[in-house]
Amino acid sequence: MKLRKAILTGGGNATRLHPITTTINKHLLPLANKPMIFHAIEKAVEAGITEIFINVNPGEKELQQYIGDGGHWGIKITFFEQTGGPQGIAHVVHEARNFIGNEPFLFYLSDNVLLGSLLDVCNEFNHGHYDCMLTLSTVPDPERFGVPIFDAAGTLIDVEEKPINPPNNFAVTGIYLYGPKVFFDAFDRIKKSARGEYEISSIHSLFLREKKRVGYKEITGWWKDTGKTNDLLIANQLLLDILPESDMPNHGTIDDNAQLQGLIRVGVGTHIGPGVSIQGPVIIGENCILTNCILGPHVTIGPGTEINGATITNSIILDNCEINCPERVISNSLIGKKVIIREAKSDRGGSMILGDKSMIEL
Ligand code: G1P
Repeated sequence: MKLRKAILTGGGNATRLHPITTTINKHLLPLANKPMIFHAIEKAVEAGITEIFINVNPGEKELQQYIGDGGHWGIKITFFEQTGGPQGIAHVVHEARNFIGNEPFLFYLSDNVLLGSLLDVCNEFNHGHYDCMLTLSTVPDPERFGVPIFDAAGTLIDVEEKPINPPNNFAVTGIYLYGPKVFFDAFDRIKKSARGEYEISSIHSLFLREKKRVGYKEITGWWKDTGKTNDLLIANQLLLDILPESDMPNHGTIDDNAQLQGLIRVGVGTHIGPGVSIQGPVIIGENCILTNCILGPHVTIGPGTEINGATITNSIILDNCEINCPERVISNSLIGKKVIIREAKSDRGGSMILGDKSMIEL
């Protein structure tokens, strides 16, 4: 049976991205000004998926509002609450068992960003009668991931979750394919790990011990797990770098004295005023006002933000912020919604209201 269903993640705690994820679902953080999970949905749709099931934490409402029923992509999207909240990604799949039935499926961690296509790996899976197909990518820090273990003959024999001394530089990425039923049979036989989660690597390890047909393919092109702030900034950078000119229209108004170079997308209702210099690639959302600032490269700005002075480079700025600090350089930063950054009113130092777990470098 051809692959047509996928499970995508939309829940979890996202503690590594605190404090920003205390008020926004990680999967809605914008990359190239598009919610992270939209990139995952688009990759799945491109690979031929027509029905997607997304898990959410109990009580979640925002994700469903942003994504809708899938009509936007010409597919069907259904949400399901993970009973008892986050308990590991293998548990997410187990919770979707009634939606999947006896069909093969794609499981995609929506915080994984890739530039290439999944068509090749899905085609190979469709034709190869696999029980499971893993996707691999070379990384400098395999100890952060599930790592494939090969024997001396180069045969895949195990997958170890976050090994202290990884034997190679591969990460098993968060994009997996499974044949009918095998996953759900295996889930009943794994236990929670030391970090209290049902690990996806425990499933793969079991498959390999039981000599199931587990294939693997290296992902072509760039792949990133955006678990940490710096990963988000790198993903944002790379996605901006590959945007074609046709995706970078100017729908705003631009003052004659502003200087713009490179690809710059300007949203409807945005005004770029005098004293602005922008080096693309840069995306500016709708209804922003910019004056006296230097932006770019690799800056994305959410709708409704006003910048009246600052030099900003390699940063993600969300909606409705107010930035007015002409002497300051803001770089490598992730700035949440409605944040105010302004010049100190006196020479006795800056005054701050920072929420729990904020980070500021002065
Ligand atoms: C999870 C998986 C890990 C995989 C990674 C890919 O890790 O457990 O095997 O390599 O996703 O993104 P986590 O993000 O839960 O630490």
